[in-house]
Amino acid sequence: MKIFIDTANVEHIREMNSYGIVDGVTTNPTLIAQEGRDFAEVVMEICEIVDGPVSAEVVSESAKDMIPEAEELSKIHRNVIIKIPMTGEGLKAAQICKQHNIKTNVTLVFSPTQALLAAKAGATYVSPFVGRLDDVNHYGMDIVENILTIYDNYDFDTQVIVASIRSPLHVLEAAMMGAHVATIPYKVLKQLLKHPLTDIGIDRFLEDYKKIPGK
Ligand code: G3P
Repeated sequence: MKIFIDTANVEHIREMNSYGIVDGVTTNPTLIAQEGRDFAEVVMEICEIVDGPVSAEVVSESAKDMIPEAEELSKIHRNVIIKIPMTGEGLKAAQICKQHNIKTNVTLVFSPTQALLAAKAGATYVSPFVGRLDDVNHYGMDIVENILTIYDNYDFDTQVIVASIRSPLHVLEAAMMGAHVATIPYKVLKQLLKHPLTDIGIDRFLEDYKKIPGK
């Protein structure tokens, strides 16, 4: 499973990238706004850190306006993936982007049938938001399982990015289901990395090392 980091914080991206575990990055307008920096400047800096897909989201609501916006974002760096909302206009834009060889990530997906339509429109990636579904009392990972089955049934090339991840268990389930990608917030990546028994084990080994004669 590919691991993307779901943030626009370049320090966090740099740290996780230094561990050799980051295959790409996803951003959205909320995450970029949190950084208080120029949009294009942040996306460019992220692309210089991680050599992989970096999602940047359009904010236009009509396909007519999304296309020039997508073209502008694509000029920032060759690795930019255009994040497009799952609407009728978004699907039109995804289809046109595919014709122009611009890769897309259809986002804000909350049902397997939305994901089916996104794949038919030619999305490169689709992002089901599992945490936000959990928030409204709907088991979010269920839709990931259904999307994977649908894509497998019909050999769609569209890759599933499990998004809106809130806990290490979401990541575990995504990997067990064979999701193509999990986009993971920094805090959850930290949680995945740490285990109290690892820390206890290191402390004990270091203490015991001191007992070795001559050390
Ligand atoms: O990539 C989409 C993701 O950032 C949404 O996460 O936590 O705002 O639901 P969240």
